[in-house]
Amino acid sequence: MIHGNGWSNYCIWEHSTTVRELYARRCRREEEEMTCHAQAAELLAPYVKPGDTVLDVGCGSGAFYHSLKRRGLPVEYYGIDAAPSLIAIGRQYLPAYGLAPERLRVMRIEDMDGAVDHVVCLNVLSNIDNYHRPLERMLLCARKMVILRESFGDTTSYAYVHDKYLDNGLPLKVYVNTYCRAEVIRFIESYGFSVRQETDWRTNGQSEMVIDYPHYWCFLVAVRQ
Ligand SMILES: C[S@@+](CC[C@H](N)C(=O)[O-])C[C@H]1O[C@@H](n2cnc3c(N)ncnc32)[C@H](O)[C@@H]1O
Repeated sequence: MIHGNGWSNYCIWEHSTTVRELYARRCRREEEEMTCHAQAAELLAPYVKPGDTVLDVGCGSGAFYHSLKRRGLPVEYYGIDAAPSLIAIGRQYLPAYGLAPERLRVMRIEDMDGAVDHVVCLNVLSNIDNYHRPLERMLLCARKMVILRESFGDTTSYAYVHDKYLDNGLPLKVYVNTYCRAEVIRFIESYGFSVRQETDWRTNGQSEMVIDYPHYWCFLVAVRQ
């Protein structure tokens, strides 16, 4: 018979002890702050007003919360992620730093709806099938702005590749997509935002190998007009 466990069975983020341990250390502040988290928080800072809500889409375990707190940004942090085991890590460790566990929720981007002031989405869309529907959800939910960090290039390329770093050599695949920057910008603008790009601090415009495949990280900052 068929069952409904396909998402977690095939989701690479549910099958890596290394990732879970890393995310737990980040939540416990035992790892250096990720450069992209620092950059996203700095990009967000000029736009926030006290009490603004920030939704971190595909938040992993929610370690970006620390980057907001470190800078004293007076915002209310929320995170959603499709991987229950990663959300559980954030719910275990982040309350010690002041985040209520219910601020982190297991949810797929495709299923989310509602309204927040700011949406941040880092290192997520490049690793899923395509960007249109999830990005539309974010744009429709964001009252003020959306900050993205993804793999962008002059043209789009899609690849569905083996992640060789999973537990017990599990033969699961994941997308490593690079999206045409100009096309994504046009898409975002069509929802009433102005968009600027920012060079990624960590990679400074160079490619970075992640699970042995090149990613071309770049930030897009979209502000609702
Ligand atoms: C590379 S991790 C990035 C985590 C975090 N944003 C960071 O930068 O540290 C990608 C995350 O996207 C999540 N994800 C993948 N597909 C998703 C979906 N459809 N809806 C919500 N989260 C998703 C994964 O579970 C994973 O935690």
